[in-house]
Amino acid sequence: MKKLFIKTHGCQMNFYDSEKMVDLLKPHGYQIDENPEDADIIVINTCHIREKAVEKTYSELGRIRDQVNLRKEKTGKKSIVAVAGCVAQAQGKEIMKRSPWVDIVVGPQSYQNLPELIAKVDPLTKNNHINIEFPTVPKFDHLKSIVTERGPSAFLTIQEGCDKFCAFCVVPYTRGAEYSRPIKSILDEAKELIDNGVKEITLLGQNVNAWHAEWTDKNVWGLGRLIKELSKIKELEFIRYTTSHPLDMDLELIEAHRDVSKLMPYLHLPIQSGSDNILRSMNRKHTVKEYIKVIEKVRHYNPNIALSGDFIVGFPGETDKDHQATLDLIKEIKYSQAYSFKYSIRPGTPAAISLNQVDESYKKSRLEEVQNILRDQQFAFNKQSINSTLKILVLKNGKKSNQYLGRSQYNQSVYFNCNEKNIIGSTVDINVTQAFQNSLTGNIINI
Ligand code: SAH
Ligand code: SF4
Ligand code: F3S
Repeated sequence: MKKLFIKTHGCQMNFYDSEKMVDLLKPHGYQIDENPEDADIIVINTCHIREKAVEKTYSELGRIRDQVNLRKEKTGKKSIVAVAGCVAQAQGKEIMKRSPWVDIVVGPQSYQNLPELIAKVDPLTKNNHINIEFPTVPKFDHLKSIVTERGPSAFLTIQEGCDKFCAFCVVPYTRGAEYSRPIKSILDEAKELIDNGVKEITLLGQNVNAWHAEWTDKNVWGLGRLIKELSKIKELEFIRYTTSHPLDMDLELIEAHRDVSKLMPYLHLPIQSGSDNILRSMNRKHTVKEYIKVIEKVRHYNPNIALSGDFIVGFPGETDKDHQATLDLIKEIKYSQAYSFKYSIRPGTPAAISLNQVDESYKKSRLEEVQNILRDQQFAFNKQSINSTLKILVLKNGKKSNQYLGRSQYNQSVYFNCNEKNIIGSTVDINVTQAFQNSLTGNIINI
């Protein structure tokens, strides 16, 4: 067996792609190894969303060069280095120039060619290879559905790319145009995951609720319909999806939150800013009022739903008043948990050339303010769970002996002790005794 080390940055879609790369390379004799120093192939699956993520890639590549050289000195063996993901797509040529020890650069839509690219790498001539095309035949048609170990919870990408072109965002350039995977290919993969012991599926897409596809009777399905279909699979117990766009929250999906008990009451619905002026210059194509209306509707259909979101502070032109509007919106909605970021200039996106860039010191203090409120909201939300009984899918062992980690319906990490062995993949009832900032603990009441 040859050793494969794979490091993943970025969003869940990148983690899905990494799993697929492992599935793809296993039949070629590769096996996952935690140790990059001894790997025959090192894959870095990269993220381009903010500048920091990109810097990470280059500093990591520096460390890898040293490891690869050391291994060659010690053993005479040359490791193959591949850069995949969104930095590969956006900066393929630059990576080859700045890091000539990289052998392969492969984009998110063309990694299905990885085995052929690896076969082409000649350790002596070191001709490096770039494959960052957006192929006409989507990658899913190439990826044989060989699913290897996944654990009880798995990702399933159903939609890729984006046509919305928010002024700050690289995704339409790195992942390409919006694409919905066909229904049969999704159902086949779901069944295969379930045959491999998966109990929870998280459907993924950059705008997952924009997914739509035609069934054999010519009817077009949206995400709500797909979720209903998946919920019919007996062994599948929990369904989640992420990330949604406010403009694509249609009635069928909202109804699914009322009607499909396997669909978890959790919605990640980013708005980015609480100011209409900023939303307009971000090209988000909706107002704050429209966003609140969507949330009200979702809460009307399922009052139990937990909400999550994303916020960007310091977008070009953001004033104190705009920022205050974001704080007000967060207070009004009450998130169970949410993500927030300082605006990061992304070359090639419209906002990058704005002359109204916000000073770093404002970005810093505004981010702190946003995060303080979100932190308080998350802790308050977690505290509401104390004394309640939550149905938990057991995901893995905790760090302490006899400790397990599971996930609640609201996406909270739940730790508990149990003397039984082999309960990973089971569903247990947990009585929550303590709440922390990022997790809950409790006692198991039945298996
Ligand atoms: N499609 C999703 C988000 C995908 S990107 C949506 O439209 O909501 C994930 C998150 O990264 C975004 O929601 C945004 O909050 C953040 N992000 C994207 N580009 C950014 C940038 N240039 N600077 C800071 N944060 C950014
Ligand atoms: Fe990026 Fe906007 Fe598309 Fe989300 S909707 S992926 S933020 S361009
Ligand atoms: Fe990053 Fe690409 Fe995902 S830029 S957030 S890995 S789509």
